[in-house]
Amino acid sequence: MPQADVIIVGSGLAALMTAYRLYEHKNVIIFTKTKKEESNSWLAQGGVAAALSEQDDWRLHYEDTLIAGAYHNDEQAVEMLVREGPSRLLELVEEGLQFDIDENGQFHLGNEGAHSRRRILHAGGDQTGKAIVSFLLEKLSGKVTVIEDESVTDLIVSGGRCLGVKTRMSVYYANAVVLSTGGCGNVYAFTSNARTVTGDGIALAYRAGAVVSDMEFIQFHPTMLYVDGKAVGLISEAVRGEGAVLVTEDGRRLMEHVHPQRDLAPRDIVARAIHAEITKGKRVYLDISMIPHFHARFPMIAAMCEAHGIDVNSGKLPVVPGAHFLMGGVQTDLLGKTSLPSLYAVGEAACTGVHGANRLASNSLLEGMVFGARLAEALRNERTYDIVHILNAAPPFTKPLPAVSQIQAVMMQHVGIVRDETSLTAAKQWLEQFSIQELVAADWSLFSDEQMTAASLLITSWLITTSALKRTESRGGHYRSDYPKEEEHWKKRRIERTKDELLVKIGGR
Ligand code: SIN
Repeated sequence: MPQADVIIVGSGLAALMTAYRLYEHKNVIIFTKTKKEESNSWLAQGGVAAALSEQDDWRLHYEDTLIAGAYHNDEQAVEMLVREGPSRLLELVEEGLQFDIDENGQFHLGNEGAHSRRRILHAGGDQTGKAIVSFLLEKLSGKVTVIEDESVTDLIVSGGRCLGVKTRMSVYYANAVVLSTGGCGNVYAFTSNARTVTGDGIALAYRAGAVVSDMEFIQFHPTMLYVDGKAVGLISEAVRGEGAVLVTEDGRRLMEHVHPQRDLAPRDIVARAIHAEITKGKRVYLDISMIPHFHARFPMIAAMCEAHGIDVNSGKLPVVPGAHFLMGGVQTDLLGKTSLPSLYAVGEAACTGVHGANRLASNSLLEGMVFGARLAEALRNERTYDIVHILNAAPPFTKPLPAVSQIQAVMMQHVGIVRDETSLTAAKQWLEQFSIQELVAADWSLFSDEQMTAASLLITSWLITTSALKRTESRGGHYRSDYPKEEEHWKKRRIERTKDELLVKIGGR
């Protein structure tokens, strides 16, 4: 039977960072259900947030993260992220990772929504994720086993511990299994996510009995390019950071009276403002006419627009919000431990509480670096067990599953940017006709790839919907139109804190 010290499921930045800081100490196998480059991290245009400039301080980054997160964050996790972030990032730079620099040879620092300082590092303009993932893959080449095109279908659990994973082809045992499969953006018809991001790790963990939390908090990115009724690709918030503004059909500034930070307000607020306009049957555009050298600064975005017949020189890009990030996930402590012994989670699949109810822009690649490195350090010292070859027997699932497009349409319509009890109940009823509990308990190794995708999306959709029904307040990425009052309360507090940025005194809190 194949075995390893550590099995990592997924190949995004958090997975690779864990492997990179671990391979000298442990034997690591990485599984990816397609190719190792196919992940959200690879697609990430926006960069890595880190308080590196002289005008900045980790305390400001800390406050910005809490304001964006609507104060739902785990404050210890936030402090860890923003305090450790700069040194974890600089370690990689010393090891050869390159970020864009300005004419003075300093890091070029960009701005994005809800940041009070310019603190976003980019690589290759709008190809930051690709640069970091390529760097890590090169470092790991020949050091770890990467198994591509093989889906992990089930976790092996016995004696209250995770013993390994099952795939359609084989069974692999390990001392520790790490889930790093990203979030579940493909639950929605409009998404910025790679097509592979279908909630697999969350479904695996939930079926194995691990605690999953905060699933109701879904971040919709405000600006996806909108062509022929579809959201076709992300337009980075860095574009608004360089001065682009949202305008209505009749040329009005959409965010003018909505929030003091206007186009750079926290993402949930901007996405809702666009959604409200679109719900009235109107179009919203991103006016980029003031950005000089757009093609040079944002080559990937310019190419994407052109590929879809949108003329960048017109200065106006049609936009719509799309599902971007899951703040919830498999609940972990600050070292990646889940509630199930020997099972770990990291990156977007995990919920440390660091992002609260709405993630601050460019905090996710940073999360992968910081929490991936921390998890690797913890795993180095983890006790080892004798590998036990036990296989649990579970019944097959023989009932019909819905098409992926059906799930996406229901979730978009009923559990999207704005929800209420009626819409959530309708979605729950629709999802539950597919025998969710039987599906949870079944053996998935008999599923085809298509069935696996539908099954993972079904379980994650059900977790999002039932959690959203339970949270009877509006906060960050969870907006209940039947409970708008609390939203006003949090909004007011978030705005007051933004205005009163000086509350944060560099040098002490
Ligand atoms: C973006 O470039 O707008 C996305 C970056 C992020 O999600 O942090």
